[in-house]
Amino acid sequence: MCGIVGYIGSQPSAPILLDGLRRLEYRGYDSAGLAVQVPGAGIEIRRAVGKLRNLESALRERPLDGSVGIGHTRWATHGRPSEVNAHPHVAGPIALVHNGIIENHLELRRRLEGRGCAIASDTDTELVAHLIQLEVAQGKSLEDAVRGALAELQGAYAIAVLSEKEPERIVVAKHSSPLVVGLGEGESFCASDIPALLPYTRDMIFLEDGEVAVLERDRIRISKLDGTAVERAPRRIDWSPVMAEKAGYKHFMLKEIFEQPRAMEDTLRGRLDREARDIHGHEIGLSDDDARTVRRVVLLACGTSHHAAMTGRYHIEALARVPTVVELASEFRGRDGVVGEGDLVIAVSQSGETLDTLVAAKEAKAKGAKVLAIANVIGSAIPRMSDAVFYTHAGPEIGVASTKCFTTQLANILMFAIWLGRRRDTLSADRAGALVEALARLPHTMQDVLTGTRQLVANLARRYVDARDVLYLGRGLSFPIALEGALKLKEISYVHAEGYAAGEMKHGPIALIDSHVPVICLVPRDSHYDRSLSNLQEAKAREARVISVATEGDEAARTFSDDLIEVPDVPEELTPLLTVLPLQLYAYYVADYKGTDVDQPRNLAKTVTVE
Ligand code: AGP
Repeated sequence: MCGIVGYIGSQPSAPILLDGLRRLEYRGYDSAGLAVQVPGAGIEIRRAVGKLRNLESALRERPLDGSVGIGHTRWATHGRPSEVNAHPHVAGPIALVHNGIIENHLELRRRLEGRGCAIASDTDTELVAHLIQLEVAQGKSLEDAVRGALAELQGAYAIAVLSEKEPERIVVAKHSSPLVVGLGEGESFCASDIPALLPYTRDMIFLEDGEVAVLERDRIRISKLDGTAVERAPRRIDWSPVMAEKAGYKHFMLKEIFEQPRAMEDTLRGRLDREARDIHGHEIGLSDDDARTVRRVVLLACGTSHHAAMTGRYHIEALARVPTVVELASEFRGRDGVVGEGDLVIAVSQSGETLDTLVAAKEAKAKGAKVLAIANVIGSAIPRMSDAVFYTHAGPEIGVASTKCFTTQLANILMFAIWLGRRRDTLSADRAGALVEALARLPHTMQDVLTGTRQLVANLARRYVDARDVLYLGRGLSFPIALEGALKLKEISYVHAEGYAAGEMKHGPIALIDSHVPVICLVPRDSHYDRSLSNLQEAKAREARVISVATEGDEAARTFSDDLIEVPDVPEELTPLLTVLPLQLYAYYVADYKGTDVDQPRNLAKTVTVE
């Protein structure tokens, strides 16, 4: 977690660094800070606890002038949020920002204290600054000093380092935490993530693990830890800066909810082969032979991406008849589970950087499985280590609560299952054709649901804003959606919510129901409809306040529900893509009425790169 940014050019660096941090604040927001090379005065730092606005006030009181600087927004791991623990950390002529975790920090601290270093903070990061400073004190260049210090580190890092002795460069390096460098006209940049740099340059290079880059005004030099030069051409990123703005919406999350029809259109573009009633497979990056020989599919993911992955099990088994399991990446890794040749592992991750998913996928690959990434951030770590990548094209997602990336993941997983089923002859052209046609209409259908349900859902959220517990029930493909609805509510409104497989209610959780508990029942007209309707009635009989999400015109669901949210009739496989929309809106409005920090909820960060 944490976001880092760096700038060297001819413009004042502080506004550019602050702007970059604002675009990275979703990665952490416990404290923030800048270090700038101030001509004639050496490196000066400003740091502040809390949101970025506190740092902005500190800079208004004591501005920082200079065109070379680094910045950081923090999600605390070692040491509580405080000014002394905020980055940048300083040791002698060195200032450093860091994203990641240094695992051997205890041993390093002991060693550095033994050598007389005065360590001011509780962080692992400050130790790295001291290690570099000791190397510089031996007369090494900043670049060599960074290499020397890195050799002593275990763990994950993306760092950007300044030295008062070399004010005309920034040295950056990475291992297991993301870092992208950007090339401008007479200026160079670095950041944890693409959106921070979009207003300044679209020409970016993604650093690989074990690489060091030296940023100067008119060039960027990349090398490996052992000093071998690396030549890598920049990639042009086609995300526009406005995609990372709120565009008049109160919150990024609301904007991203309403962006879903557009995000879906971009994700489906060029992939639906309506003529052949099939999916164009070239972007999936697997051969027809791979499709025919796969023995088993293992989906790995965390959080919301795990809920998307769960739908893969239903689709891949139903449409392609391949045995499929879904694993929480955090539980899979280190378990020495049975996986290997003949298995296709699908790693699903919006950021492409989630540590648990990355490590789990690497473990599976090392045992001989083929890895396909479904990711949104181009060039991120999981796609890079995978054998094939099937990107979602949702654009940058800034709200911590994932919305548009979830629905585009659902679409990619469904498209993959159709592609697989066609290649294995388990899915007829007619059935595939019907799904492809429904997918082609999906952006419009989603738009109808969003505009048609917004006001009703906002009213329901107002009515139930004080509910202390909310239950979400669903069967089949609606079960992951029940889990996702509950997760959305928990993470942004802090209301206790649980998603259950509707059929499991009678095995225990039904005891939770009383007249104070809203129960959100997902009852689309699918192959589970009759049993789902029975579960709904069971909840109603226990005096629950039932809100149903059902297919348009379902009078039975209306009769047994206190409130009904209707979605259009679509093939069963597409229902999750519609039923989740009112649940996202519900979570949003409850949080907004409660006045929580919707885009940056407490204790969370967008990209989880820690254990
Ligand atoms: C979603 O709302 C969450 N913020 C979180 O569960 C997220 O989905 C999870 O951390 C996985 O992230 P990823 O998709 O970037 O791997």
